[in-house]
Amino acid sequence: MLKPKKDKEQKIKLTKESIQKAKGIFSYLKPYRLIFTIGWIFLLLSSSTMILFPYLMGQLLGSSGSKVTSMNESFSLMKMENINSIVILLFSLFGVQAIFSYFRVVIFTNVTENALRDLRKSAFERLIYMPMDFFNQNKVGELSSRISTDIVQIQETLRTTIAEFFRQVVTIGGSVILLIFISWKLALIMVATVPVMALIAVFFGRFIKKLSTNAQNFAAESNSIVEEALMGISNVKSFTNELFILGKYQKSIEEIRALNVKSGMWRGLFISFIIFCMTGAIVFIVWQGLLMTQGEHPELSSADFFSFMMYTIMMVASVGSIPDLYAAIQKSIGATENLMNIIHQDNEKEILTGKQKPEIIGNVEFNNVHFSYPQRKDIEILKGISLKASKNETIALVGSSGAGKSTISSLLLNYYSIQEGAILFDGVNIKDIDSEHLRSQLAIVPQEVILFAGTIEENIAFGRPNANEAEIIEAAKQANALEFINSFPEGLKTQVGDRGIQLSGGQKQRIAIARAILKNPTILILDEATSALDSESERLVQDALDKLMVGRTSFVIAHRLSTIRKANKILVLNHGEIAEQGTHEDLIQQKGIYANLVELQGIE
Ligand SMILES: Nc1ncnc2c1ncn2[C@@H]1O[C@H](COP(=O)(O)OP(=O)(O)OP(=O)(O)O)[C@@H](O)[C@H]1O
Ligand SMILES: [Mg+2]
Repeated sequence: MLKPKKDKEQKIKLTKESIQKAKGIFSYLKPYRLIFTIGWIFLLLSSSTMILFPYLMGQLLGSSGSKVTSMNESFSLMKMENINSIVILLFSLFGVQAIFSYFRVVIFTNVTENALRDLRKSAFERLIYMPMDFFNQNKVGELSSRISTDIVQIQETLRTTIAEFFRQVVTIGGSVILLIFISWKLALIMVATVPVMALIAVFFGRFIKKLSTNAQNFAAESNSIVEEALMGISNVKSFTNELFILGKYQKSIEEIRALNVKSGMWRGLFISFIIFCMTGAIVFIVWQGLLMTQGEHPELSSADFFSFMMYTIMMVASVGSIPDLYAAIQKSIGATENLMNIIHQDNEKEILTGKQKPEIIGNVEFNNVHFSYPQRKDIEILKGISLKASKNETIALVGSSGAGKSTISSLLLNYYSIQEGAILFDGVNIKDIDSEHLRSQLAIVPQEVILFAGTIEENIAFGRPNANEAEIIEAAKQANALEFINSFPEGLKTQVGDRGIQLSGGQKQRIAIARAILKNPTILILDEATSALDSESERLVQDALDKLMVGRTSFVIAHRLSTIRKANKILVLNHGEIAEQGTHEDLIQQKGIYANLVELQGIE
């Protein structure tokens, strides 16, 4: 099972293991390594040319008033007094810088997008072939967020954060070297104060941000109280719970107030700190630097002093940005680890390799099948089920809610493996059959129909993606769906909305039936296929289903017993066991559970 996302977000720690896993991302970068290396060269070039900027800028600013020339003989080009030539140099520096940066950004984006396309594809490919149990254990929302948010996180990091981080490190390193070079004394004073202050400011700032995030969470909570109360307003009123809800709300808004007041105090302190310490430190450096430029034989030219100050500013900015960049990289390592966890799981495809693809003509047999769901191993759902369906027979499954009927249909589709016994298709054990091959021969009209956002036509065509329009219309007609489809102005092209929300339950069911008709399976499973229909529509659809069942093996699950009277065999399931079996007439004569149910439903 994958780790819950929450744990991840609370504290991301870089462990050896997580870094090891995150390294998996390199295999996605590998195909593009040549171009990526070129990108890095551009990055290195643009970062290092940037280092020259503060020097030249400082010389430019300091060149006007100062009569003292630069102390650093070795930088002959820096000795220039000529303002114009410094400006020209600055312009060329930016020109070169612009070209380098352009290629850096373009190359990094290219490599990132290519690698991410491959990563997205393999992550989704993994997911979609995961065994059914995986989806029972992992929340769908969490899984899709892996594919979307985690990848966005990685995208940001690969495209900019890493480059930015590298650039800042080069800037800091280069600045320190040049600061020492210009005046080691002043550099020493500076390094001991300014970066320390900058870091304190950053962490202080983060602390305040955290306080306000807490306040935001409380705000969200209080909003949900309002929302729930208003949505369920009739509940609130009918139970006269207004005062109770108000109390809850008051408590939560009081918490918001207290938290915000607290963070306000800290914010005040923060501002005082910035004003006093940060500016104090800067004034201190400027003071020390200016002292050095004074006197008969000044230690520092004013041009060098300006350069020094420019380096200081650039370095402080870089130091300040490092913690956020580092946090972003940390987050992406977490995100990469998440994705790699998916990519490295075994999926059905691997489990399937080397399995048979026998011809399936429709003889199905359950042999003393015992089954419990993987995450509830101690509860046995099926306790030794044996059944036999010959080619073209209709088998009905009835029984109380929770008896295990839908479970049997899941097993037919090989969503889960059984603990004991055997399921055979034409004598071949389901364990040896390629699931994809098996499922291609089966169609199910499930208990809960979920459609895809798209048109009705697309949803029906899901049964056989290469079907043409005439076939789709024919399937819709047979499912008795054409009438309601044509009543929409856009007909088959009508959008069904998210998960089919814009259709009624009965309409969805008929689309699912059309889907199954289009698939033309050897084995058909109808799990309460007509439960959402009124009696009139049910009769019409039942006609369609009766026709559909001809010439295939069908498993029909139904609560409404009138729909299964004609079945070749009716199995009455009770707490995971077959309590009775036989034809309708046999079971009526037995006067057992079935006969009782029939009587309750008032069928003669
Ligand atoms: N994915 C699952 N994971 C764990 N337990 C499950 C799962 N699906 C069903 N069960 C449990 O298995 C038992 C049988 O469920 P099943 O869906 O097969 O019942 P059913 O006979 O189809 O009932 P109904 O008539 O209400 O559809 C139930 O007790 C249910 O709680
Ligand atoms: Mg069911």
